[in-house]
Amino acid sequence: MLEHDVIIVGGGLAGCRAAVEIARTNPSLNVAVVAKTHPIRSHSVAAQGGMAASLRNVDTEDSWKAHAFDTVKGSDYLADQDAVAILTEQAPDVVIDLEHMGVLFSRLPDGRIAQRAFGGHSHNRTCYAADKTGHAILHELVNNLRRNGVKVYQEWYVMRLILEDGVAKGVVMFRIQDGHIEVVRAKAVMFATGGYGRVYNTTSNDYASAGDGLAMTAQAGLPLEDMEFVQFHPTGLYPVGVLISEAVRGEGAYLINSEGERFMSRYAPSRMELAPRDITSRAIAYEIRAGRGVNLDGSAGGPFVYLDLRHMGKEKIMSRVPFCWEEAHRLVGVDAVTQPMPVRPTIHYCMGGIPVNTDCQVRSSADGVVEGFFSAGETSCVSVHGANRLGSNSLLECVVYGKRAGASIARYVSDRKLPAINEQKYINEAKQEIQALIDQPGTLRINQVRQGFQDAMTEYCGVFRTAELMEQGLQKIQAYQQQYSQIYLDDKGKDWNQELVEAMELRSLMLVGQVILNSAFNRKESRGAHFREDYSQRDDSNFLQHTFAYYSVAGIDIQYVPVNMGMFEPLERKY
Ligand code: FUM
Repeated sequence: MLEHDVIIVGGGLAGCRAAVEIARTNPSLNVAVVAKTHPIRSHSVAAQGGMAASLRNVDTEDSWKAHAFDTVKGSDYLADQDAVAILTEQAPDVVIDLEHMGVLFSRLPDGRIAQRAFGGHSHNRTCYAADKTGHAILHELVNNLRRNGVKVYQEWYVMRLILEDGVAKGVVMFRIQDGHIEVVRAKAVMFATGGYGRVYNTTSNDYASAGDGLAMTAQAGLPLEDMEFVQFHPTGLYPVGVLISEAVRGEGAYLINSEGERFMSRYAPSRMELAPRDITSRAIAYEIRAGRGVNLDGSAGGPFVYLDLRHMGKEKIMSRVPFCWEEAHRLVGVDAVTQPMPVRPTIHYCMGGIPVNTDCQVRSSADGVVEGFFSAGETSCVSVHGANRLGSNSLLECVVYGKRAGASIARYVSDRKLPAINEQKYINEAKQEIQALIDQPGTLRINQVRQGFQDAMTEYCGVFRTAELMEQGLQKIQAYQQQYSQIYLDDKGKDWNQELVEAMELRSLMLVGQVILNSAFNRKESRGAHFREDYSQRDDSNFLQHTFAYYSVAGIDIQYVPVNMGMFEPLERKY
């Protein structure tokens, strides 16, 4: 059995930042990061537009309180305000700390870190590295893992959280290269496994974003929080769905419908293209519904709108958002210097997740925590984003709460012993599970079932929701879940069996989808990204509460938990 003081699952920003913090706090601790890809290929690397912090390099009127207000308003008042205060107050320090680690932020002419406008933020506070900010930060954090002696298990798939008697004791994982299974025991386990974009059929997320950490947590009997709040990023490149950063609009691009109109004036006159994402995505969806979308031949009535950068000029496009230009050029043959880009909303981010307190300890209920289990980043819900996240607050969350998780774990393990685990039992169960999948005499390909499931989630639990639609969706996804026992794997071997990984990921994303749909069905109001055409108003008297969804094979049990209010009273949300 492998042993570490701390095992962190996930090699993205939150996991790496936590590992560095633990190693810095107590260099004698034995810390390991396990990831199903190389850490540098974690989805954080794809983050483009930036990271918010009230540094006041560009806008001297800014303050952490203004950042906190924007975040709470953006969240449609569902965010926990104690967690938001920590996020926004600590933001300037974590940016400077990253700079000291070597992160190459873009600069103002006088050498200070540059800051740009972003949706829903009232000041120019987003720090960036052109439109490759995640790339710049993750590379330095991974370098710092090595510098601090953190053990990295790359390309290992974690298939189970070991949780016994309310205590997290370790994980079961297999090496993708040869199928070798290991049990790891640890004094603390942290999940930083990112989001679940692949639950839907069009997403800006990479193929690895299958919600594995969320599914393992739910299978262990722990709740998932606020899973109905699924973020559509307004500008996914049509038809592929990859991200065209909000930075493009932050730098001045327009959204245009088939009539050549900057239609955001109808939906958010004071913020226009820089309204929060829930509002902008719905606006695009309304335009398309109303027949003012565009077709590939330029005619009206099509499935996308235009993102127009032409007035920005070549020099600005190539220096501020070169990667977005390249994506459109490479993937759909559009030269954004002379042509508008086709865009439509794409699944981007999961506001909900594994519930944690502000020390990143996983919550088992409204007032209980799980011993030895921590989480941070997109997979967790602390909740700083509530019902709708503002762009550039997610890298910030990963770093602020990754760092806090690290400090909290270092404290926690200081007087703990390694837990006892029946290693053989877990190895046998993992072997049986893998063999059963390999031997399954089915007739369906993984992709058939996955595609059907993703299409159903997109159709029945997308931008616009109703009880009737979601009831149909629940039946559909149940049918796909039943098909899981009929999938077959061509590859019966152990070496680099990618089909096996995909089969396990399919199980994760089906479970996560079921939790999303049930949570959405139960929330009979509209708030942030959760928009119900049959309950189109926010209902603070009944639903200013977090959803805690408990999964079991019998179904999903929904409970509601109070929101931590504080500095800001709920107001009508207008932009
Ligand atoms: O649009 C973007 O660059 C995405 C940023 C974010 O999700 O925070």
